[in-house]
Amino acid sequence: MRAILPAAGLGSRMSALTDGGSKEMLPLGGRPVIAWVIQEAKDSGAEEVIVISAKGKADLNAYLDTQPVTVMMQESPIGLGPAVALALEAETCMILLPDSTFSPASPALRLAEAVREGVDLAIAFRKIPDSQVSRYGIAEERDGVLAGLVEKPSLDEAPSRWAVNGRYAFSATSSQNMRRLIEESLPLPGQPELPLTPAIQALLKTGAKGGLIICSEEETRHDCGSPEGYLAAKEVFG
Ligand code: G1P
Repeated sequence: MRAILPAAGLGSRMSALTDGGSKEMLPLGGRPVIAWVIQEAKDSGAEEVIVISAKGKADLNAYLDTQPVTVMMQESPIGLGPAVALALEAETCMILLPDSTFSPASPALRLAEAVREGVDLAIAFRKIPDSQVSRYGIAEERDGVLAGLVEKPSLDEAPSRWAVNGRYAFSATSSQNMRRLIEESLPLPGQPELPLTPAIQALLKTGAKGGLIICSEEETRHDCGSPEGYLAAKEVFG
C-alpha cells in the first residue's frame, strides 16, 4: 500500500508563523509537522510514502531529501485533486493531508482495514457544529454508509454534519478510477483549483461502496494548517 501526502499551498493565513516557509515544516514536538504524518503513514501500513511537493517549497524539499520518501512535484497549483492524481496507480492507497496530525491515535489504520475488508473507499469523519460546515467536505450518509460527498457546502445545502477529517483510503480499482476522473476534469488556466471531493462524489455515483469511519475521541485531529489549530497542537505535542 502506498501513502500519498499532498503538501498544501503556501497559505497566507499562516505567514506570520511560517515566515514564508512551508506550514508542513513548522516545529511540533521537536520535529516538523510532516515528520509526524510520515510516521503515521508508516505506522498505518504504508510500504511507500509519496509526498507531493512544489518547487516553491524549498524548506520542505530540503527536508524530504533526507527522508525515506518519494517526492513528486506538482508543476502548477491547480488543486488537491490534481496533486493526488499524480501518485494514484492501480494500487491500494491512503491519502493523508500533511498539514494535520492526529493524537493520541490515527484513524488511518482503520481506513486501510475497511478497504481490505471490502469497501471501495473509506474516509474519516468528525461531527462539526453548523458554524464550520462551509470549511469542510461534508458526507451524505445513508444507512451508515457514505452515499455522497459535497465540498464546503452552505448550511442549507449540507447533507449532514459529518466533516472529512483529512484521511482517506482507496482500493486499487478505486485509485485507478479516481485518477481517470480527476484527469478528465483538470482545470484550465484561470479556472478555480480542483479539490479532491468532486472525484470522490463521482466515484460514489458510479456505485462505489463508501465506508464512513467516525473518528473516536482518541483520534483527535489537529489542524496545523490554521494558526489556532497549530497553536493548539503545540499544547499537545510540545
Ligand atoms: C480539505 C478538503 C476538505 C476537508 C479538509 C479537512 O480542505 O478539501 O474536504 O474537509 O481538507 O480535511 P482544505 O482544508 O484544504 O481547504
